Amino acid sequence: MESHLTPFAIGDIRIDPPLIFAPMAGYSNYALRSLCRAAGDCGLVYTGLINATGIRRASYRTQKMLDWRPEEYPCAVQIYGHEPDTLAPAARRVVDLGAAIVDLNMGCAVHKVTRRGAGAALLRDVERAERIIAAIVEAAGGRAPVTVKIRSGWDRDEMTAVEIARAAERAGVAAIAVHPRTARQRYHEPADWDIIRQVKEAVRIPVIGSGDVRTAADAARMRETTGCDAVMIGRAALGNPWIFRRIAGELRTGAPPPLPTPQERAAAALEHARRFVAGTPLREPSAIHELRGQLVKYTQGMPEAAHLRGRLVRAESLADIEAILAPLG
Ligand SMILES: Cc1cc2nc3c(=O)[nH]c(=O)nc-3n(C[C@H](O)[C@H](O)[C@H](O)COP(=O)(O)O)c2cc1C
Repeated sequence: MESHLTPFAIGDIRIDPPLIFAPMAGYSNYALRSLCRAAGDCGLVYTGLINATGIRRASYRTQKMLDWRPEEYPCAVQIYGHEPDTLAPAARRVVDLGAAIVDLNMGCAVHKVTRRGAGAALLRDVERAERIIAAIVEAAGGRAPVTVKIRSGWDRDEMTAVEIARAAERAGVAAIAVHPRTARQRYHEPADWDIIRQVKEAVRIPVIGSGDVRTAADAARMRETTGCDAVMIGRAALGNPWIFRRIAGELRTGAPPPLPTPQERAAAALEHARRFVAGTPLREPSAIHELRGQLVKYTQGMPEAAHLRGRLVRAESLADIEAILAPLG
């Protein structure tokens, strides 16, 4: 089982172990990413998707999303857009700012993103996708590897993952992450891991599998059935930065390390809250509203979790959150 932890490389960046925190809009912020890294065995983190136009215009809100820090290294910065003229300068800018890896979002299925041809809509035109990716690779100029994150395709009639993966490889990407659901499926129905296997067989660059990994057994099964080089974990890491350490520990020794205690959960949630509030572009109360959704994820496995959640969702300020969590940590 330990072989499932064999490191791999994206360009010349070593990913060790090959357990990766997924890009998640609204969740993959500095607070959670840094907690995942500190808890251990998280080999790579991603930002959530960041609008390339916002990066180019240097809007205040976007600037604040470019919030990765040295202790998270390596962090992949995910950008989205639909035209090379915006994406290339955005890629150059994030590399200038020290992004370890530039990732292109080719999976977001939200209408606001796809209606202009960005996100998962890029899966619908292989030639256009290849031109866009090549422009990003050129803009990164060898200073940072470029990766893409794709879905299976647009819908059942347009399952383009393999073609897109080949085009991305031709255009010079250093790795491909695959979330094997179509844009239409959003998050419904189980992820079809066989698509990951098909992509892995079609390209020589590393392939990262994403979708429905929650346990060490899931991670091992995804590696065995698809041959993927790394496993990405999204929803199961929310409020649970220890998941990478637990999965790696179980793969190494056959038994997972102990679960975090309720005190550790409360202390991590409080630290998350402080880091989030210090870094977010949002002002109270919007910042606290967004944060509440992140914090309730930590209550799983805590005594009187429902009661605690009820208190957290009513918090209106960081002081309220501290008053709830500090006595528990
Ligand atoms: C709330 C949420 C936000 C997400 N945001 C992004 C995103 O910004 N970029 C991206 O490539 N994928 C995004 N995803 C997809 C995840 O990265 C991942 O591929 C998917 O959730 C399947 O993995 P999981 O079962 O481990 O969660 C998001 C998923 C969720 C649930």
